[in-house]
Amino acid sequence: MVVHPVARRRGVASGLVADGLAWATEQGARRMLLEVEHTNVPALALYAGVGFAEIARRADYYAPGAHAIVMARELEAMR
Ligand SMILES: CC(C)(COP(=O)(O)OP(=O)(O)OC[C@H]1O[C@@H](n2cnc3c(N)ncnc32)[C@H](O)[C@@H]1OP(=O)(O)O)[C@@H](O)C(=O)NCCC(=O)NCCS
Repeated sequence: MVVHPVARRRGVASGLVADGLAWATEQGARRMLLEVEHTNVPALALYAGVGFAEIARRADYYAPGAHAIVMARELEAMR
């Protein structure tokens, strides 16, 4: 996910994530996973803010020294 720099901090990304979570839930998904570089403070804050939590790390995933944090969020079942 990338938001143009001039449009950041207006809720664009959190809105897109919320819509993606709702769509996945409607499709019957029960959990969503993502990976984010361990130094990406804005993205880590974004994902934590919409309910994702760290479950694992992948060392040197993007490049030597650039580790991935694996995050997960449970999805509520829809009836
Ligand atoms: C990460 C990114 C997608 C966020 O997009 P955005 O539209 O600005 O995010 P939002 O406005 O929805 O912000 C939601 C929350 O994320 C966090 N956040 C976003 N940018 C932040 C920053 N620069 N520093 C700290 N927290 C930040 C905040 O908690 C924010 O809530 P708040 O504004 O109420 O404090 C954007 O910065 C981006 O495109 N970055 C470059 C690409 C990238 O790293 N993508 C993610 C790859 S996994």
